[in-house]
Amino acid sequence: MTDKAFTLRARIYAALRYSDNSTAGRRWQSFHLTALAVGLLAVIVLSVEGLPEEITHALRIIIWIVSMVFLAEYLVRLWVAPEASRFDRRRSAVARLRWAMSIPGLIDLLAIAPAAMLASGYGIGGPDTTSVFCILWILKVGLHAPAFGTLVRVVSNERAPLTSILILFGIVLMLAATGAHMLERVRQPDQFGSLPGAMWWAVVTLTTTGYGDVVPVTLGGRVIGSILMICGIAVLALMTGVLATGFAQEERRREYLRVWDQVSRVPIFGSLGVVTLSEIVGKLRTRHYPPRITVVRQGDPGDSMFFITSGEVEVRLPNGGTVRLNDGAFFGEMSLLDRQPRAASVATTRPTTLLVLYASDFYEIASHIPALAEAVEVEARRRREENLARQVAESKR
Ligand code: CMP
Repeated sequence: MTDKAFTLRARIYAALRYSDNSTAGRRWQSFHLTALAVGLLAVIVLSVEGLPEEITHALRIIIWIVSMVFLAEYLVRLWVAPEASRFDRRRSAVARLRWAMSIPGLIDLLAIAPAAMLASGYGIGGPDTTSVFCILWILKVGLHAPAFGTLVRVVSNERAPLTSILILFGIVLMLAATGAHMLERVRQPDQFGSLPGAMWWAVVTLTTTGYGDVVPVTLGGRVIGSILMICGIAVLALMTGVLATGFAQEERRREYLRVWDQVSRVPIFGSLGVVTLSEIVGKLRTRHYPPRITVVRQGDPGDSMFFITSGEVEVRLPNGGTVRLNDGAFFGEMSLLDRQPRAASVATTRPTTLLVLYASDFYEIASHIPALAEAVEVEARRRREENLARQVAESKR
């Protein structure tokens, strides 16, 4: 293959990644989600019986087009799969096979099953076919959910506490089911006569679902039921707590890595040692802004300052002039140093990534790292003088 074809393949591979943030990637994701939404809507509507013939025909055409889009997507993904292991171009077939056998590959393969059914002359329509299409395509929506990977990692990180909670769940369930079986089986042999029957009641009660199809009638059975309901709330609260903390920790770890990646693009941090830098990195947050978004509004109270890692912003000065700031520059420091409202409005001119440092963290860092505070202050002083000079020039005109 020529180098040009390689470059094209790499670019397509990058744009097709579900996490890609480039314009092409975002356009592809919007198109893909729209195709999925339209296809699923058509499938859902087609399952309604008694629709006019023209509408059914139009819906079949829509489903056919969406199926073809997914077929084309599958073939393209198969073609670009070697880019995932781009340093070993000779083993393209292995890379393609590996992608085809991966979970996203299998989901994409299932999603083209409707296209295969159509190609083999299978008629679209009828509740069975539409349900199959619906199940196969809804799986594809899951590929767009970036938190799925995080969820898997959180469950894996927290497997010890989660397993303990599940064991606790099992113990409480079995104790309650056995107790209820002993106390209720005489009065309600159909519902509590066997342990599986009593376990069904215990699961429904412990998960706080409470269908009400099986209800204890003896005093002892009701006491067990009450304790079980309270245990159910406690178990769910424990599970929620473990997962929520796990998510927060995972997100913090990922944010830390994202910031490490970005911080090298800001020259003011360049001279800091690794230990000092790691202290700052823990306090910075990344934010992505589309073009023409006002990040800071003149007159607002200053609660944070920003470092530009990529993109550009326009500072709209009070006298009507503008200043553009690019990669590596910072803004929003003046209000933090002066404890005054924002001196100017700042808006993005193109997609921009910023690192945000909140005021409390800024003051803490400034007290620990005087060199950094000094550099920020010098620039703020220069800006203040520049603004003053502009104002004087403006008033003389
Ligand atoms: P702050 O006052 O917090 O909010 C507006 C920001 O615009 C200000 O901090 C500075 O960071 C920035 N700013 C103000 N004047 C200038 C200037 N002349 N050149 C570059 N940036 C400026």
